[in-house]
Parts: sequence; C-alpha cells; structure tokens
Amino acid sequence: MIPSEIIEKKRDGNKLSEDEIQFFVKGYCDGKIEDYQMSALLMAIFFRGMSDRELVLLTDAYVQSGKTLDLSAIPAIKVDKHSTGGVGDKISIILAPLVASFGVVVPMISGRALGHTGGTLDKLESIPGFKVDGSIRKFKQQLEEIGVAIFGQTAELIPADRKIYALRDVTATVNSIPLMVASIMGKKLAEGIDGLVLDVKYGNGAFILEAERAEELAKNMIKVGNYYGKEVTAFITSMEQPLGYHVGNWLEIKECLECLRAEGPADIEELLLELSAEMLVLAGKAQNNEEGKQMSLQALKNGQAFEKFLNMVRYQMGETDCLLHPDNYPGAKFRQIVKSPKSGFIEKIQTRRFGMAAVYLGAGRSRSSDSVDAQAGIILSKKVGDPVSKGEPVCEIHTNNESSIEEAVNLIQNSVKIGDSKLSPPKLIRKRLKA
Ligand code: URA
Repeated sequence: MIPSEIIEKKRDGNKLSEDEIQFFVKGYCDGKIEDYQMSALLMAIFFRGMSDRELVLLTDAYVQSGKTLDLSAIPAIKVDKHSTGGVGDKISIILAPLVASFGVVVPMISGRALGHTGGTLDKLESIPGFKVDGSIRKFKQQLEEIGVAIFGQTAELIPADRKIYALRDVTATVNSIPLMVASIMGKKLAEGIDGLVLDVKYGNGAFILEAERAEELAKNMIKVGNYYGKEVTAFITSMEQPLGYHVGNWLEIKECLECLRAEGPADIEELLLELSAEMLVLAGKAQNNEEGKQMSLQALKNGQAFEKFLNMVRYQMGETDCLLHPDNYPGAKFRQIVKSPKSGFIEKIQTRRFGMAAVYLGAGRSRSSDSVDAQAGIILSKKVGDPVSKGEPVCEIHTNNESSIEEAVNLIQNSVKIGDSKLSPPKLIRKRLKA
C-alpha cells in the first residue's frame, strides 16, 4: 500500500478499509510512515470525518498497536474514568485514589498536556520522582497490590496513541470527533476494564464548543465501548471557566491536596462526587448515586482517599514530603498579579485563551519535544459571577521564564470580561448519557 494514496482517499471523502487503517497506524508506530504523512492523514480525517465502522476500526488499530492489560486474575471490578480535557481539570488525580479506596480497581492510562489543556501525567510528574511509565508487569503488580495506578501510554501499551497524540497536539488536529474517540477509547479498552465513566466537556475551554457536539462525541464513545462489551456512562459538563482556581502542573497538585481533604473548591467537589458515585455504582459498591456521593464525601473527610493517594505516589516512586508539606515545594522564580482594570462582576472567562496563557508561561508545550515547567501556571482569585473592584487581583501568574510574562498577561486581560451586572456561573453538569 502507498501512504499517499490512503491520504488521498480520505482527503476526497472516501471510507478507509480495515487493512488501510491498520497499515497506516502500524506503519507509523514502526517508523515506516513519516510524521508529515500521518499529519496529512490526521488533517484529512479532521475535515472528512469517519463512518461508525471506520471509527471502530481506528480504535481497534490503536488497541492492536500494543499489548492489552489482562486483569482477569484480579477478582475486583475494574472501572476507570476519562475526561476529554479542559483547563484546570485535575479530577482524575483525586478520583482514582478516592474510588480505589473502596476496593475498586482503577487502572488509569492518561495523557499529557494537549493544546491549551493540561495533562494528568505532566501534573503527576511535578511531584519529584513520580514515574508514569513502566512495564505492563509493573502496572499489573501495582494494581494487584494497591488497586490504583496512573500510567502513560508506553511502547508496550497503546503506543499508537503515544505517538499520534503528541503529533495532534502540534498539528491542530485535536478537536476531531473520530480522533478523540480512537485516542480515548483505545487507551481505555487496552486497560482491561469492566466499566467506564466519561466526562465529555463542551464550552470555550474545551476542545468541543457546543454541547450538542459533545453529546455526539459521547454517544460515539458509548457506542464503541458497548461494541466491546463495556458498560459506559458519559456526563456532558461545562468548561466555560477553569475548573477550580489553580491551572498549571504543581499548582494543580496543590489544589488536589485540598480536594483530597474535602477542602477544595465547590465546582471540583460537585463534579468529583458525581463521577465517583457513578464509578461506585458501576462497580457495585454503592446502591445508587446518592449513597455513592455520601460514601465518597466521607472518604475525603476521614483521610481514606488521601492515604490511598499517598500510597499510589510512593508506589510510583514519588516523594511524599512535598504532599505532606506543600509549602516546602520550591516556587516559580517570577510571579505577577494581574489586576482588574475596572469594577464590576466577572462576566466571562474565555477559557481557551486562559489555558494558552498557562502554556506560554511554561505549563504546556508548543512543540512535542518541549518539556513542561512544573511550577508555571496561574492562580485565579475570581470566577464567573464574582464581584471585583478596580485594581483588585483577578489572578496571579507563576513562571520561570520572564520573557513569557508580557504575552501571558495580554492573553489573560483579553480572556477575562468584566461586566456591570452579576451573572450566575454556567451550570457545571448538563446531562448524563447511557446507552
Ligand atoms: N484526551 C485524550 O486522551 N485524547 C484526546 O484526543 C482528547 C483528550
């Protein structure tokens, strides 16, 4: 087969066969297909879309690109969650140990920063020593012993997503429904799970702007999951402002520590409890949503979730001293407060632009080879609906790269709109979908 002919076929709006999809994905993983050829195919898929059958075939090619986890020797139910990505979305880091603290096995394969959004793996790596890669044997051993592990895609586990995810990040091909479905469901199907909860985000800080398109994405992921015999629930949630107050790798871990003690921001807690309850119901640990929420809140308050988190960090070679004493963590070299230019109410936060400001500061990547700055990011002081006075801080930026400050401040000033009347913040959880 000739790569350019396959690209041409998709470019012209035709359907690809199983052999063509397998050839392209495998060839890319083996280094026989170049980045520029895969970039062209991704862009063709972006514009032309894929049929239901192509979607299953692409997801399958992702799964087949590596090995899958066989967790059948572990008797517990295995359930996972995945978010389509947003600014300040740190829920996975709190949720995985919280749910695992009830004896549910949570084998979570996560991703890195993508576009204007942060990545669970980059956030966890801001904990000194924390390792997100390892062999399948290690991953399984950790799940057997402590019931939770958050790893990245590796050369063994879903390598297609590892390579293609990084390429999409820098070729403007992230927000394509088929590419998101294959990336997310490929990772999740390789994990050997019984059930999955999806957090599908829409709004000005998500990859998908409209709630209706987020629903379309969710329905496609549910369809692919059900095709493989997995129970899948999806929540359609708003990303019209950052989740919580902290954006950036270590800053978000710091906020997770508060949430793990039930002392975090209300929006994070609302979503966390909803997702946790759904996972506990799927795993048969809670009878219903209400019971699942109460159990989860209790596990945050009594330290059971925090203890499991520390266990996971230790198991993955992370140092726990900074988690027990977060103020000892070295701060970024440069900090600057961004003040409100006028009095009024926060009317809107253009969250994508806000996320891009964090990327400029060093929290994300502009090229796939870039490393991220653990300390860079933004701490918000105000959220949508809050009153603000002229000169009052709207947020504080943190970076080790002084030359990024001017551009980041510009982006933030252009992303926060101050109006004269108080608006209610957007409703966070819009819908629950199940097949
Ligand atoms: N998260 C993923 O894992 N993949 C995507 O494509 C988008 C968000």
